[in-house]
This record gives sequence, C-alpha cells and structure tokens, in this order.
Amino acid sequence: MNFPTLKIGDLIPRYPIIQGGMAYRVSTAPLVSAVANAGGIGTIGATGMTADELIEEIRQTRSMTRGIIGVNVMYAIRNFADLVGAAIREKIDVIFTGAGFSRDIFDWGREGRVPIVSIVSSARLAKMAEKLGAAAVVAESGDAGGHLGTERSTVEILPEIRAAVGIPVIAAGGIINGRDIADMVRMGADGVQMATRFVLSTECAVSDAFKQHYLKAGAEDVILIKSPVGMPGRALRNAFTKLMEEGGLPKPAECQKCLKVCSREYCIIEALKNSRLGLIDQGIVFAGKNVHKIKDILPVSKIFDRLIAEFKAV
Ligand SMILES: Cc1cc2nc3c(=O)[nH]c(=O)nc-3n(C[C@H](O)[C@H](O)[C@H](O)COP(=O)(O)O)c2cc1C
Repeated sequence: MNFPTLKIGDLIPRYPIIQGGMAYRVSTAPLVSAVANAGGIGTIGATGMTADELIEEIRQTRSMTRGIIGVNVMYAIRNFADLVGAAIREKIDVIFTGAGFSRDIFDWGREGRVPIVSIVSSARLAKMAEKLGAAAVVAESGDAGGHLGTERSTVEILPEIRAAVGIPVIAAGGIINGRDIADMVRMGADGVQMATRFVLSTECAVSDAFKQHYLKAGAEDVILIKSPVGMPGRALRNAFTKLMEEGGLPKPAECQKCLKVCSREYCIIEALKNSRLGLIDQGIVFAGKNVHKIKDILPVSKIFDRLIAEFKAV
C-alpha cells in the first residue's frame, strides 16, 4: 500500500503522520523536532504555557529541525488568543485546535497565513470547521488519550466525518502501528494523528515513571475520568483516579484561573504537571485506549521506520 498525500494548506509532509499535541509539556522541542525530521508533522502542546514560554519552545524546536512543526492550543484555556497570536507571529507552520470551538481563529489564521486544523469528533462540527475555513480536520474519537469530545470509536466516526467534508480528514484515536494506519487510509483518511505511541519514545520529555506507567498498563487500566474542563478524559488508573472516584481529591489551594470554565474539583494543570515530573500517584496520566499494546520505548526515527514498514507490508 502507498501512503496518501496529505495536503494542509501548502504543506505536504513526506509521510501523512502527525504527532498529536500533548499538554502539559509532553510534546516539546525534542519530540516535535524528531517527528518533523522523520518526515511527519510534529506538534507542540501549548496548553498550560504562557505566550513567552511557547515562543521559546517554538524557537528551540525550529533550531532543531527544518521540517513541518505545529502548535496545538485548546480553546478551553483562558490565554487561547495569546497563544494562537504568539504561534502566528513566530510563523508556525500549522495550528491545531480543539476542546471547544473558536470562530475567530480562522480569521487570525487567514490574516497570518497559517492553516488552521480543527479537532472534531462529529460530522456536524467538521462541516462547520470546513465552512469557516479549516484547512483540514482531525477526526478524533473516544479511543484517543486526553480530553474527549465523544465516547464513540474511530471506526464509527471516521466514515461519517469523511462523508461530510471535502477537506482532508486526519484520523485520531487508538492508532499505534502501520496496520492501523492502513485501516484508516482504507476508510478514507488522508492522514493520521498519533500521540500515545510517541510518548513511548526516547525523545518524549516526560519522566521515566510516566513512561513506565504506560508500559505496565493492561487494557483494564485505561479508563475515563472526569476533568474540571467539563469533558471526559482518557487516562490510566492510579491512586489519583481512585481518589477521584471516591470523591476524596483535595480542592486546589491556589487557582491561576487558567481555564475559561472550570469546575474547580481539582487542578488539571497541577495534576498533569505532577505526572510529567514523575509524581504519578498525585497526577493524571493521559493515554489512548491502545496504550497496553505498546511494549517498547524507541527513538522516533525507529518508530517511523517500523510504521512505514508495517504500512507498506499491507
Ligand atoms: C498525554 C496526552 C496529552 C494530550 N494532550 C492534548 C492536548 O493538550 N491537546 C489536544 O488537543 N489533544 C491532546 N491529546 C490528544 C492527542 O493529541 C491525540 O489526538 C490523541 O491522543 C490520539 O490518540 P492516541 O493517543 O491513541 O494516538 C493528548 C493525548 C495524550 C496521550
């Protein structure tokens, strides 16, 4: 099987493989640049950063690659407009946006000549994104890691979204190997977005404890949690999620008011920061549904070699 050509605005990556943006600081310069250097699109997870921190991260990434790099910003975050503005001023190649829907971002993208890709989980939102000027959509299912817009699977939502729009459709959620990519292409995807597989790379900046928590997960450990953002999230079971189920999480002592709307049940940024640093039992470890099928930590170049070989063998 041959890879389809993925065209986002004027951008055509060598391989139609996007590394999904991951907050807080899970996808940063080393991982993003390695994916871009391997011929995919690497994406910085900007949510939780200040605009100055994002500018610094973009510059560092750019110094490590001449490949295609993007920024992922969640609409739910209060400094959404600042982060998008900073990314556009830094001449980022592409912006991915989800967790809520901004109409303004399409005007900002047009003015700054940066393609905007909407992360959607329904045909209705995909159509709206196309109408407003999205260069492509990511069809992200309930199989994905992080915040979810649906609990439906990728095989359920992909055909519906494919049929609804004429712009490129990028499948996301539960894709971990080249055979999965081939399945998505057969179902009409122009490309794929993968995140969980790239956490288990040598370049990913999270603590070793975070990666080990992934490696020892069984299928039964991948659960849905409540996030103060108001959307469910897919994460790995741990002491923190147990306390959450029992209603025993301590209320946040301090609040930076980082979200537009927050239930204040717990601080999501604090929880993501903790797990990133290795305090697994005091934090949230977001992961996609098929995390338990990944058995190794590899350099990004080797992950790409394997994905390409598996895809071509189909
Ligand atoms: C640790 C982690 C953090 C994530 N953070 C974000 C984020 O900040 N913004 C976003 O739009 N998606 C986020 N996602 C979703 C991914 O970008 C991606 O679309 C999804 O995980 C794809 O499914 P997969 O992990 O099964 O490959 C996150 C996923 C993970 C695993």
